[in-house]
Amino acid sequence: MNAASSCFSRRRFLLSATASLAATRAWGMRGGAGTATRYPLEIPPLYATNETLLAAPAIADLGGGRTTTVLAYDAYFPGPTFRANSGGSVAVTLQNGLADETTIHWHGFVVPSSEDGQPQDAILPGNSYTYQFPIVQRAALNWYHPHPHGMTGEQVALGLAGAFIVNDAEEAALGLPSGKYEVPLIVRDASYDKAGNLIYNPTSSGFMGRTPLVNGTRDPKLDVDRAVYRLRVLNGATARVMQLALSTGAPFTLIGNDGGLLDRAYPVGAIDISPGERLDLLVDFRGLAAGTRLMLRDNRAGWDLLAFDVTATYVENAPLLPPILSSIAALGAPVRLRTFTFDGMTRINGRVFDPHRIDFTVPLGETERWRFSTGGNAPHPVHVHGASFQVVQRTGGRNRVFPWETGWKDTVLLADKETVDVDIRFDGYRGRYMIHCHKLEHEDQGMMANFVVV
Ligand code: C2O
Ligand code: CU
Ligand code: CU
Repeated sequence: MNAASSCFSRRRFLLSATASLAATRAWGMRGGAGTATRYPLEIPPLYATNETLLAAPAIADLGGGRTTTVLAYDAYFPGPTFRANSGGSVAVTLQNGLADETTIHWHGFVVPSSEDGQPQDAILPGNSYTYQFPIVQRAALNWYHPHPHGMTGEQVALGLAGAFIVNDAEEAALGLPSGKYEVPLIVRDASYDKAGNLIYNPTSSGFMGRTPLVNGTRDPKLDVDRAVYRLRVLNGATARVMQLALSTGAPFTLIGNDGGLLDRAYPVGAIDISPGERLDLLVDFRGLAAGTRLMLRDNRAGWDLLAFDVTATYVENAPLLPPILSSIAALGAPVRLRTFTFDGMTRINGRVFDPHRIDFTVPLGETERWRFSTGGNAPHPVHVHGASFQVVQRTGGRNRVFPWETGWKDTVLLADKETVDVDIRFDGYRGRYMIHCHKLEHEDQGMMANFVVV
């Protein structure tokens, strides 16, 4: 489906098709208090992996008829959810209807360098490009977003981002909750101008929005059956680290993260998630009385992100989780150590990003230990393109590896005074890839480096 051929639903219409933005309503500032009016959580539509996406200005309904101008893929805020099986392929055409250059980066996928959506491969306004690659990875929640030079934060904050779910046979055999019991949750923050339109007003230390948004819905609520739900969570904020918890104090059952299933399920009461990271969580509502309202919270901001309203319907859909969910393949002993310091808010190893400079080369197929450290100005969510990694240890700061950092990762949170070691092996493709801070304001200011897998 592309925007030109589809009908305009309640939720989406292209900016060019509307006469005026003047109809935006007055509204109150709200941090998600429990007493706030709540609006049904939007669930982005599902797309197949051979669709066209038009990136263009649009108007989105944040809930309750309150509209805002955004940048959106096919006028969906957030973008449509792609779903595909491992072993399948992607051929998605991006049409750039923006005033600036853009790209699509397929965060979490290992794709040929030419399809990775790097800043050097920008699509100019009015142009299009078809991203093509095979899906050669295990089941996971990936995502897609722009990666243009110096403008990634702005384009993501104004709405360009979406989920991409990969399924496989190992995951299917677990019988995890599916259909309406599997809910993608793109959590982020946002700020608005006086007219109620989304604004992006970062400082050099990052953009901190004043209110939360989940799937583009303000103060959202979701009616849930007395059943088990699988929450596929992405932190889609540009800078804000959240700590997720349930208002009941009940633990989540953590089963996966960036790179898919963990070795086993972990009960965890509170989970830190930084920009770019993903979580796969089971929440059991079966024991709650109809009419109960509980909250998904961000403990750090003190926000109620999402209200769950428990209905009377009981559904026995709990998966029987085996003691071993998945076996995480070992990478082998690292053959060399490579160190990266995240300096200030603009540099890696003392250097500001230069799109035309290759900072280092990495041999294909060799396990390396990469050591990330920072003296300050964190959090720095460190992200690597071209391969997933395994977190080995964290010293200083929080001084441990958390359950949600086990298994396969592509983004890891580096807090002040921390050193994080990861093991990584590039098995996919030779070519140019990147490492950067996924606090997008740091990335845009140059905390990014190019390397070539040789
Ligand atoms: Cu999600 Cu290079 O970024
Ligand atoms: Cu990426
Ligand atoms: Cu940073």
